[in-house]
Amino acid sequence: TYVVTENCIKCKYMDCVEVCPVDCFYEGENMLVIHPDECIDCGVCEPECPAEAILPDTEDGVEEMLEVNKEFADKWPNITQKGEQAPDAEDWDGKADKFKEHFS
Ligand code: SF4
Ligand code: F3S
Repeated sequence: TYVVTENCIKCKYMDCVEVCPVDCFYEGENMLVIHPDECIDCGVCEPECPAEAILPDTEDGVEEMLEVNKEFADKWPNITQKGEQAPDAEDWDGKADKFKEHFS
């Protein structure tokens, strides 16, 4: 499966949802997650993310975020179309400790 990682938080560009063939993205207030049981590992979303927040679960260090994706994919609503982006999305790109401070 592919995993949405920390840099999505508050960037939430949503380009990823437009390309997913199985519509397996779910939307929280500040970020999206991928449903690990629905993702077919096609990889097309990875290069679409301007924040480079999407990684395969074979990548080192994504375990914690995989658990977050798993948990919230069952709680948050499905998203299949890009919504309105926050005006300050680009200011958050690359900021450290976003998970600790702004996850919801
Ligand atoms: Fe969707 Fe493919 Fe990305 Fe998985 S890897 S979330 S199936 S676009
Ligand atoms: Fe997040 Fe990147 Fe999608 S910032 S919403 S994973 S395009």
